[in-house]
Amino acid sequence: MSTTDSTLEEPQAFLPHPSVAAYAEISGMDAYRALVAEAERDYTGFWARLARETLQWKTPFSSILDESRAPFYEWFKDGTLNASYNCLDRHVEAGNGDHVAVIFEADDGTVTHVTYRALLEKVSRFANALRTRGVKKGDRVVIYMPMSIEGIVAMQACARIGATHSVVFGGFSSKSLNERIVNVGAIALVTCDEQMRGGKALPLKNIADEALAMGGCDAVKSVIVYRRTGGKVAWHEGRDLWMHDLTQAEADVCEPEWVGAEHPLFILYTSGSTGVPKGVQHSTGGFLMWAAQTMKWTFDAKRSDVFWCTADIGWITGHSYIAYGPMAIGATQVVFEGVPTWPNAGRFWEMIAKHRVTVFYTAPTAIRSLIKLADSDPKVHPDRFDLSTLRLLGTVGEPINPAAWTWFYEHVGHGHCPVIDTWWQTETGGHMIAPMPGATPLVPGSCTLPLPGIMAAVVDETGRDVPNGQGGILVVKRPWPSMLRNVWGDPDRYTKSYFPEELGGKLYLAGDGAVRDEDTGYFTITGRIDDVLNVSGHRLGTMEIESALVANPLVAEAAVVGRADETTGEVVVAFVVLKGERPTGDVAIRIANELRNWVGKEIGPIAKPKEIRFGENLPKTRSGKIMRRLLRSLAAGEEITQDISTLENPAILDQLG
Ligand code: WTA
Repeated sequence: MSTTDSTLEEPQAFLPHPSVAAYAEISGMDAYRALVAEAERDYTGFWARLARETLQWKTPFSSILDESRAPFYEWFKDGTLNASYNCLDRHVEAGNGDHVAVIFEADDGTVTHVTYRALLEKVSRFANALRTRGVKKGDRVVIYMPMSIEGIVAMQACARIGATHSVVFGGFSSKSLNERIVNVGAIALVTCDEQMRGGKALPLKNIADEALAMGGCDAVKSVIVYRRTGGKVAWHEGRDLWMHDLTQAEADVCEPEWVGAEHPLFILYTSGSTGVPKGVQHSTGGFLMWAAQTMKWTFDAKRSDVFWCTADIGWITGHSYIAYGPMAIGATQVVFEGVPTWPNAGRFWEMIAKHRVTVFYTAPTAIRSLIKLADSDPKVHPDRFDLSTLRLLGTVGEPINPAAWTWFYEHVGHGHCPVIDTWWQTETGGHMIAPMPGATPLVPGSCTLPLPGIMAAVVDETGRDVPNGQGGILVVKRPWPSMLRNVWGDPDRYTKSYFPEELGGKLYLAGDGAVRDEDTGYFTITGRIDDVLNVSGHRLGTMEIESALVANPLVAEAAVVGRADETTGEVVVAFVVLKGERPTGDVAIRIANELRNWVGKEIGPIAKPKEIRFGENLPKTRSGKIMRRLLRSLAAGEEITQDISTLENPAILDQLG
């Protein structure tokens, strides 16, 4: 991929740099092992200690873990707290109100600094406005917002009054937004007029209007609109309200709603094995404790840090490591509206230099695309920028290949910033398997070892441990505080997806494959074992895309698989059978484009197939089951070496190959 490829044949371990180890909260492997041992000795006592140390409780908890309704576990259930209080008020009360909470950089480069005191006032005003509009504890509010101070304010304001937010990524289509609003039963929607990315405006309010008009949204009484660009929007009197009008009329203090630790802080939709996305439901206490604790452990983050997580608030990473984690520990963070390649591919490096960023957390896909661009244009190479404030780098969302890891380590981290590869999921709430920067020797391509208290293991199809060196299924053996609590409105799906009977019903099934190193026990994630693709770190269900395709009047049948890709990890390849004749030549190109745009409209541009191949049929067994493994080989352009004796229509392989 890049010039560094040749240096990477042998994975080598990188010991923590002495300066990193000296600074770290957990310094040296003995300190790591002591924590692991503490959790093994007294599992609930360990978590109770962290929850007491990390959070400020209104009423202390006495119940630590209630397993009586397993696998619906409850943590700290008789304790009460407020997430917004923990993220804002307590820093102001401690005398840190003037500390900068957010450095916001807009798409066009305009920078706004917001202190903890100012953020608390904004959140309080908006929380009051929500209350005035009748939003109460337990109500659901959908947030369809760009990266903005106001997006974070909306999330924190919901938390403040005990409303449960559900953020929908701004790149999702009106149809996806509609489905989520309906499924979660929202009574209010927070959006903005237009979103600015890479110099282009995207009409979020129009898309939201479309979503609301699709039906099932009668419960939505308020649509609160943040004015970002001043672009023209349609207006529904009585329902639509400008955010600035509402907040102006409100007081800048707001008594938080003290909620039980198990109160649902948010619901975030993610893709699974079926066509319908799952509403992953998270708690308040357990989630917030782990967001804060992992900031301290995984990133060694302190108040003095300038932390920058480049994720979007529409994904879990933007929840745990933008909207909650950094503020729970009182740090300063950079929030970025734009894209890494605009106005040029030096944007990230320039911003790190400008804002004196100390911890930089991003996705392998972003790194890989910036490597390519830096290789072809020296002006945007990180070597040209002053990155000397950086002390730690992190990656998330997909496996990072050793070549990209090493480039990031050398050219961005200058050989002294550890690259912290964090494995976790929407469902886990926070980091699960990741190095501790002052302790764990790093091996490029491995997320190394579970954080203390996380009982991760690799098992076979029956739930039995497999020996190191042998691949298997990644599971977590004991419940942990920041785990999901339910699938919204579908407890049955929660149990079946995450605690399947085949594994004995007690192990949390992550949906990833993994292998542990024979000598070190280090984990390497080998990819999803279900029908979920990972494109640029975004989770996409193959069934979801197939349902979108077959909803098109031209399409009779569709099967979607992933193909490995150098930059984005995977790309979507669709095999499609039309109702009419199999198209060829220009007609095939035109219909393929039409279908790609169709998927963009149905789900969102991230789900568009990279390639569409047309056949008269799909490879099937005699009982009519689509043979996906064959499709995966065809998509990859591999020779078919699998057993095809059960394939009913072998001739189809030539047509689709
Ligand atoms: C993948 C993102 C390898 C994995 C936080 C997981 C990773 C899915 C890593 C969750 C990593 C995430 N190495 N694979 N460091 N981190 N994944 O829910 O397949 O959007 O199951 O959460 O991303 O994606 P999700």
